[in-house]
Amino acid sequence: MRAAYRASILHCLSDPGESADLSAVDYFEDGLLLVEDGVVEAVGDAATLLPQCSGMALTEFPGKIIVPGFIDCHVHFPQLDIIASYGEQLLDWLNRYAYPAEQRFADRAHAKEVAGVFLDELLRNGTTTALVFGTVHAHSADVIFEAAMARGMRLVAGKVMMDQNCPEALRDTPESSYAESRALIERWHGQGRLGYAVTPRFAITSSEAQLAAAGRLAAEFPDTWVHTHLAENTSEVDVIRKQFPRHRSYLDVYEQFGLLRERSVFAHCLHLDDDDRQCMAKKGGAAAFCPTSNLFLGSGLFDLRAMRAANVRCGLGTDVGGGTSLSLLRTASEAYKVLHLQDQSLPATRALYLATLGAAEALYLDDKVGNFESGKEADFVVLDPAGTSLSARRTAASSSIDETLFAITMLADDRHVAATYVAGKQCEIK
Ligand code: GUN
Ligand code: ZN
Repeated sequence: MRAAYRASILHCLSDPGESADLSAVDYFEDGLLLVEDGVVEAVGDAATLLPQCSGMALTEFPGKIIVPGFIDCHVHFPQLDIIASYGEQLLDWLNRYAYPAEQRFADRAHAKEVAGVFLDELLRNGTTTALVFGTVHAHSADVIFEAAMARGMRLVAGKVMMDQNCPEALRDTPESSYAESRALIERWHGQGRLGYAVTPRFAITSSEAQLAAAGRLAAEFPDTWVHTHLAENTSEVDVIRKQFPRHRSYLDVYEQFGLLRERSVFAHCLHLDDDDRQCMAKKGGAAAFCPTSNLFLGSGLFDLRAMRAANVRCGLGTDVGGGTSLSLLRTASEAYKVLHLQDQSLPATRALYLATLGAAEALYLDDKVGNFESGKEADFVVLDPAGTSLSARRTAASSSIDETLFAITMLADDRHVAATYVAGKQCEIK
């Protein structure tokens, strides 16, 4: 099955950096994306590629921009229904909103209903791959994997491990969390486009025995992911200091328990020092930059310049329900502002990188997704610069793709996503 898609096409080949390096992006004003059996065959100028396309199904999107599918490096599907809950910083917010919502996931039917709605919302926003937290219930992982498989999405997820400092109803034990996570790995990891993440919530909610159990899983299944939170909030960091007085830093806790390795993804990473950043880069760990959450929960400002200077892999995360949008375009617009406050720049092409190829590198999935190199899976989004009447007016006056992409990023929501494709198939978005 071969198909061709004609529109403006933009994708990243590497990190454009703060100076928007032109050689890091490929742009075809009148472009063609050729897809065969769900995989990218070629991308280039329509004038060059059209002669190879006789007899192929050709879909044209005049005035639209095709970009790679967005990749969300950190999100909690069980928190969908508490998005936009008023007033608290992290530790109180967990107790007041997140934990009660997660307790409702004891009901598998409820978890299944939320999983379907959640993934449809991701697709509506152009997100084709995500790294997803479940709840402590093993069936939370089952239902999100089942829903992702039904939609053909690439998804990495895991059951949360937590055995202390949280409501009784949400606690597992070192032994049960090890056994359940192991069974889920055996059931789901590597099935189609699915992968498993060993998911200790954060060091506050795991005993040392449980962190050690998570570390054992991470060592026994080295191609799984590790997914947790790190240094998000100053009160959280204070608790960690008291809980682990012998450790040099918060990151050092994870490192000592074998949880810092390639495919380890740490949400937030706001309150780190240079030694942490060096260590994270050396061990191949990655950071999820979650600006809407960091602003909403009053957590702090992510230092992208310092992270990238240390060569830490970075991608964007929405962190719903601490975050306030599932749209990675909206997330990128808040990232721009967070960086602006620190005298750092975020050109539109770098924002695109953080939502696509950079995120794929953070997740060690850049051999499969993230841009349109031939052989990669054909996950793509058709952006509509005229998604709203205001953005239509603004982008009509634009004189370059950078200007158009920047305006879409600042003004966008799901109305700017005209279509989403996973593995070459258009998603039917409910
Ligand atoms: N740290 C531990 N758990 C959570 C969570 O659910 N959301 C956020 N934003 N941070 C956390
Ligand atoms: Zn989170």
